[in-house]
Amino acid sequence: MDKKRVLIVDDEMNIRRILQAAFDKQGWHALVAQDGREALKMLSEQAVDCVLTDVTMPGLSGYELQNEVKNLHPEVPVVIMTAYGTIPQAVAAIRNGAFEYVTKPFDLDALKKVIASAMRPSDEPKTARTGKPKAKPGISFIAESPIMKEIEELAIQVADSRSTVLITGESGTGKEVIAKLIHAHSNRADKAFVAISCAALPETLLEAELFGHEKGAFTGADHAKAGRFELANNGTLFLDEIGDVPLPIQIKLLRVLQEREFERLGSTKPTKVDVRLVAATNRNLEVLVEEGVFRLDLLYRLQVVEIILPALRKRREDILPLALHFLVRSSEDNARQLKQISPEALDALLAYDWPGNVRELENTMERAAVLAKPDEAELEVRHLPMKMRAAA
Ligand SMILES: Nc1ncnc2c1ncn2[C@@H]1O[C@H](COP(=O)(O)OP(=O)(O)OP(=O)(O)O)[C@@H](O)[C@H]1O
Ligand SMILES: [Mg+2]
Repeated sequence: MDKKRVLIVDDEMNIRRILQAAFDKQGWHALVAQDGREALKMLSEQAVDCVLTDVTMPGLSGYELQNEVKNLHPEVPVVIMTAYGTIPQAVAAIRNGAFEYVTKPFDLDALKKVIASAMRPSDEPKTARTGKPKAKPGISFIAESPIMKEIEELAIQVADSRSTVLITGESGTGKEVIAKLIHAHSNRADKAFVAISCAALPETLLEAELFGHEKGAFTGADHAKAGRFELANNGTLFLDEIGDVPLPIQIKLLRVLQEREFERLGSTKPTKVDVRLVAATNRNLEVLVEEGVFRLDLLYRLQVVEIILPALRKRREDILPLALHFLVRSSEDNARQLKQISPEALDALLAYDWPGNVRELENTMERAAVLAKPDEAELEVRHLPMKMRAAA
């Protein structure tokens, strides 16, 4: 097999030399350029498997170079080397298609792993991704308000990338539905969607659930077990209530996100995974960072794409279509005819504040369907709970 070719772009000669020596030792063919223009010229003349670029250079910056590479050579992954203080720009570059960023001063081993994974052939040929008809998601997603339509569009737009998505919103706003929507529209749709709630488990159990364990790793581990990361390989892992992850596990998560590998508990052998991570929380992670219980670097990693779901009371246009959707479904499940909503009942639904958001609306429709007589066709105010009648 031909040697992999890595183009190093940095204006500092010492860095170029160190990296070149390290990559040559790794068995790669290292090319060097001292600025963005030279890099573009080399790219137009020869094939390269990966570009590793510094950010601050005379002439073209690393970000401008990445943008040019994206347009001229979209198949070439770009890894960006940045100083710690400028991570928000690096995150913006990932949104713009950069493969990954590493912070300076970098750990050479970690850097090599990032580059190796950038060059690793994906399961699907890259060409299969273009012109592909949109996956038909088997989930019903209702979006009538402009904000929800925008959110649906964003979810579909980012579905195919491997970028981590952070979904925030009050309880019951539909965070898990969005995660499933992203998966269903991604090129991972036929692979696993694995969900885990990080709040439900004590620390050691959560760690074992996520990363798996070897036989005898801890008391009670009488057989080896794959963790959720392994189960989600090539698919999507949904980490619910990410704000509740204890700090030691946050460090491990950060490592999987950066190096795409981890060790099972009780093992020293790294396991490689290709997992798309979607995380959700109803807590404010910025506040948790200030309180010292959530790592800022992990937050940056997670919010490469951030989707903020508004409370149902902030998007009342969604109430009627959601209500009808749930009502029809519950009526069918319960052998009822209830498929319409009277104007008075609709007024009550629209006036209510919905602290439990979409889930509360779903339960309300279910309750109405159960309470209704088998021949009733229209939901009336009397089918609604007292507190909603009072709101009207
Ligand atoms: N836009 C939507 N279209 C259709 N169904 C929805 C929509 N949003 C939410 N739902 C439904 O409402 C219920 C609650 O949604 P979901 O479980 O995704 O909320 P959540 O934000 O994850 O809540 P929690 O924070 O309590 O975990 C689910 O049954 C889901 O199917
Ligand atoms: Mg949820």
